[in-house]
Amino acid sequence: SSMHIELGKLLDTTKGAEKEVAKKDFQGFEKLFHRFLQVKGPSVEWPKIQRPPEDSIQPYDKIAARGLPENVADSLNKLVVVKLNGGLGTSMGCKGPKSLISVRNENTFLDLTVQQIEHLNKTYKTDVPLVLMNSFNTDEDTKKILQKYTHTQVKIHTFNQSRYPRINKESLLPVSTNMSMTGSTAEGWYPPGHGDIYASFYNSGLLDQLIAEGKEYIFVSNIDNLGATVDLHILHHLVTQPNGKRCEFVMEVTDKTRADVKGGTLIEYAGKLRLLEIAQVPKAHVDEFKSVTKFKIFNTNNLWISLPAIKRLQEQNAMDMEIIVNPKTLDGGQNVIQLETAVGAAIKCFDNALGINVPRSRFLPVKTTSDLLLVMSNLYSLDAGSLTMSPKREFPTTPHVKLGSSFTKVQEYLMRFESIPDMLELDHLTVSGDVTFGKNVSLKGTVIIIANHGDRIDIPAGSMLENKIVSGNLRI
Ligand code: UTP
Repeated sequence: SSMHIELGKLLDTTKGAEKEVAKKDFQGFEKLFHRFLQVKGPSVEWPKIQRPPEDSIQPYDKIAARGLPENVADSLNKLVVVKLNGGLGTSMGCKGPKSLISVRNENTFLDLTVQQIEHLNKTYKTDVPLVLMNSFNTDEDTKKILQKYTHTQVKIHTFNQSRYPRINKESLLPVSTNMSMTGSTAEGWYPPGHGDIYASFYNSGLLDQLIAEGKEYIFVSNIDNLGATVDLHILHHLVTQPNGKRCEFVMEVTDKTRADVKGGTLIEYAGKLRLLEIAQVPKAHVDEFKSVTKFKIFNTNNLWISLPAIKRLQEQNAMDMEIIVNPKTLDGGQNVIQLETAVGAAIKCFDNALGINVPRSRFLPVKTTSDLLLVMSNLYSLDAGSLTMSPKREFPTTPHVKLGSSFTKVQEYLMRFESIPDMLELDHLTVSGDVTFGKNVSLKGTVIIIANHGDRIDIPAGSMLENKIVSGNLRI
C-alpha cells in the first residue's frame, strides 16, 4: 500500500539502533492504521448498552472492610507502580515533561511519586519498583533528572512508548519527510496515547523481566493525579482472589459530579465490562451520556492490571482498543489526524474485570493552575509524598477555583501570589484580568475578583475577603 511505501521512505532516513526502534514503531502504526481504515460506523450500538451488573462495580468501603493481613509486604512485593509520563507541561505554559513541574514545597509530580513509594518500601521493608512510561518528548529530560533519586530506596525503570507519524487529514499520508526531531519535521510525530502502554511495555522486554522477578500486578495512573497512591486494600483484594476467579483488571471509578461530564464511564456491552468514552457516543446521545443520573461514575485512570494477562493478550494479538481519532492543526495550517488509544479501553479483553468505586480523594488531577492553587494551599497537607485534605476543612468538597487567562502559565501564576491565600473556608473563587495577591490573604465563601481591561487589582497583604465581589475600583 502507499502507506507502506511512505513509511519505507521515512525509515531510509535513519540508521543503526534508531532504525530498529523505528521499524517496531512502524509495525505498530501500520496495524493501527489498517484497523482505522477497516472500521466503519460507531464502535457501539446505543440500544445494546447496558448498565453494568450490580457486582461488577464494588464500593471501595466493601473492599476495605475486609481489613489487611499481617503479610502486607508479600502482596507489595508482587506490585509494580507504573506512571504514565509521556505528556508535556505545555497546557500550563511549561517546557519539558509535565512530571517535572513543581507542585508543592518545591516538589515535582515525580518527586512526590518517588517519596510515596520510598515511604512504602521503608515502612514494609519491600521492594516496589517504579516504572515510567516516557515518550520521545519526555525521555531525555526525565532520564537526566532520575540521577537525583540514585540514593533513594526505589528502583526506577523506564521504557519508551511508540512514536507514530501524524497523517494528513485528506490524503492520509504521513506529513513528515524524515525522522529527524529538529525544526518543523518534529511536528510530524506524536505519542499515540496511553493505550500504547501494552505494546511498548511488552516490546521493551521490561514486562518479561518483571514477571521473572515475581511481579504480578501493575498499578497504572496518570503522573499528574496526586491522589493515585498505592492502596493496600485494593492490592490485597486482587492478590487474594481464588485462582480461576483472578481479577485481571481493576478500574478505579468515582462518582461523577457536574464538573466531570467528559470522563469515560463503565457499561456492560456484549457481556463484558467496557469503557465508554464521549468520543464513541453518537451525537444524539451526548446529553444522555453527560447526565450524572444515568451514568453515575467515571474512570479515574487508576488501573490495576495483571502482568501475565498483559503478556498473554499481547502474544495472542488480542489486546483490542477502540481507536480515538484526534484532529490537529499544525503551525503551518495543515490539518492532520493522529490515531490514539486509551489504556482503560482494554478492560473488555481481560478476565473477571472489576470496577471499584473509590472516594473522590483518589482523583486529584492537576491539569491547570487553578488545580495547582488548590494543591499548593492549606486545604491539603503533605505527608510522605501524599496529599490529604486538611482536617480543618469543614466540608469534604474542594472549592471551585477559576483563574483567568493571566494565570494560565505557571510562571505568571506564581508571580501573582506573594503567598498562597488561606482557602480553608473558600467555596468559590473566580479571578479575571490583571490581579495580584499580597502576602497572607484569606479567602472565604464566594469571592469574585474582576479587573477590567487596562485596570489592575492588587489585593493588599493581610486582606480577608468573605463573600465579596471586587471589580475595578468598585468594591461591594
Ligand atoms: P493527558 O493529561 O494527556 O490526558 O494524559 P487527560 O486529559 O488527563 O485524559 P485522558 O486519560 O488521556 O483521556 C493523562 C496521562 O497520560 C500520559 C500523560 O503524561 C498523563 O500522565 N500520557 C498521555 C502518556 O504517557 N502518553 C500519551 O501518549 C498520552
